[in-house]
Amino acid sequence: MPAPLIAGNWKMNGLAADLGEARALAAALAETPAGTRVALCPPATLLARMADALAESAVLVGGQDCHSEHAGAFTGDVSAEMLADAGARLVIVGHSERRAAYGEDDAQVAAKALAALRAGLEPIICVGETLAQREAGAALEVVARQVRGSVPAGLGETAFAVAYEPVWAIGTGLTPTIEAIEAVHAAIRRTLVEALGAAGARAPILYGGSVKPANAAEILGAAEVGGALVGGASLKAADFLAIIRAA
Ligand code: PGA
Repeated sequence: MPAPLIAGNWKMNGLAADLGEARALAAALAETPAGTRVALCPPATLLARMADALAESAVLVGGQDCHSEHAGAFTGDVSAEMLADAGARLVIVGHSERRAAYGEDDAQVAAKALAALRAGLEPIICVGETLAQREAGAALEVVARQVRGSVPAGLGETAFAVAYEPVWAIGTGLTPTIEAIEAVHAAIRRTLVEALGAAGARAPILYGGSVKPANAAEILGAAEVGGALVGGASLKAADFLAIIRAA
């Protein structure tokens, strides 16, 4: 089993002054190394500066999204190659906020994951059901369908992760029960193995949605939880560190 991956998603938060949080995190991990892989995904404007600030540390830097093309007339977009050039090692694709606000579908997410591979980045492919889908008893089916559509076949030989992020748990303080998390992670694992064989058995499946210091140990201890994707609690080094130490 690979070391757990604890990735922080800063979303549209962070100015130059906030790089101090990344430096504080790196300093703490240099003093007492973690048994996990750790990544921070800042907004694109901070990525190169954060990568420079963390160059000597074990903390990886990632993007929050990428375009599927390597370059071209796509005003406002950033390609996977650009992220890699700026110092990124990973990229989040298919976050529910992008699926909801920009209408990204599974095929687009799969194309972005392939673009990440092309650029040598490790994609973190996000899936997760809405509250209405959960209440209708469709969570496992929805998530399995998203995995089938969003994880491209070509991922087999390279590092990637899937993040299960129930939409209703993101930024709300709500989390599923441990049993519910384990049921979805087991369904994701089955779907990955069906699609990719041995490579599907290896990829870490992260949980995301209101992970905080108080619930991290229990969530990270659940079956098939191979790490966490952390939003709000990754903005402050002390909180994020407490989550990392809980793994
Ligand atoms: P949250 O966000 O930890 O603030 O709930 C998680 C995410 O959206 O990745």
